Amino acid sequence: MSALIQVKNLCVDYITFSGKVRAVDNVSFSIEENSIFGLAGESGCGKSTIAYALMRLHRPPALISEGEILFQGEDVLHYDEESLRQFRWAQTSMVFQSAMNCLNPVKTIEYQFYDIFAAHNRVSSREESIEKAKELLRIVDIPEGRLFDYPHQFSGGMRQRVVIAMALALNPKLLIMDEPTTALDVVVQREILQKVYELKQQFGFSVLFITHDLSLMVEFCDQIGIMYSGKLVEVANAKTILKQPQHPYTHGLGNSFPTLKGELKEMIGIPGSPLDLTKYQGGCRFADRCFKCVDDCRRVEPSLAYYPEREGWVACYQPIEATVNAELVSNCEVSE
Ligand SMILES: Nc1ncnc2c1ncn2[C@@H]1O[C@H](COP(=O)(O)OP(=O)(O)O)[C@@H](O)[C@H]1O
Ligand SMILES: [Mg+2]
Repeated sequence: MSALIQVKNLCVDYITFSGKVRAVDNVSFSIEENSIFGLAGESGCGKSTIAYALMRLHRPPALISEGEILFQGEDVLHYDEESLRQFRWAQTSMVFQSAMNCLNPVKTIEYQFYDIFAAHNRVSSREESIEKAKELLRIVDIPEGRLFDYPHQFSGGMRQRVVIAMALALNPKLLIMDEPTTALDVVVQREILQKVYELKQQFGFSVLFITHDLSLMVEFCDQIGIMYSGKLVEVANAKTILKQPQHPYTHGLGNSFPTLKGELKEMIGIPGSPLDLTKYQGGCRFADRCFKCVDDCRRVEPSLAYYPEREGWVACYQPIEATVNAELVSNCEVSE
């Protein structure tokens, strides 16, 4: 397998009146072809900032200050306007956090598909657009007869599937999904991700899937990256990251979500609250909330180190070694 996209030392700052806030600090990861990479972490840790930066959709006050974003070996940060236009939608497409609001309420679904195809010269007639759009609706399990309906005539879950069909309209190589199902109930969330997984198998694209909900991730991702306060603190295979979390923050995240199956058990939250980045003084950002913190942690910030035996990276001086969450993972229906 080769990497479709490689993010290297990405730094994104927000330039505010009260100073510069580094929302994404020296983040590196790769997404392999035909694979799903999950990015998890508490609200405000920089996940959406990364998603927008990858497509160069960030707007002031956000600024990419350092790093490279290599898409099939070429740096997206050096693309000219035309390459960027092709890259967005045709190569990469994004389903936003509030995806359901991105449909135009006064136009039919058919018109909105036509808009996408026509903008990228993918059809030569309206009839051809209708045929292609019907096919896309079919693959997300929506009857083709619904093509001429307006967005308000669909349920929330169906609207989300329509948005996914639109995101796939131009056969992108990378689909970025930023908390795509947060507004939906748990059963519908799972159905939608199952569908994305099947489509990925069928068409062979890669997915960057962003959520704060680890239980969904473990089931559908190949690799998972855990973010904390603008830093990537752990990256590992989805099947091992919860069973054998190495970073104390990953361990805490794993204990703070309910499982779908198995016995009811008390959830343990992570004490304290996320770091205020404007007050960051150096050292490990998680130190104040960490049960394994030692003096060194407060002095120098740990960087990601590679652990070959588990093919994962972790930024911690005191990584956890024992298998602590085996039960938790088995409750999440992970197929080995
Ligand atoms: N427009 C903005 N101006 C200043 N700071 C911002 C802006 N947007 C986001 N941030 C800050 O950047 C950090 C990361 O935000 P975000 O990427 O949205 O996090 P997430 O998606 O993980 O919830 C947060 O601390 C947030 O306060
Ligand atoms: Mg976000």
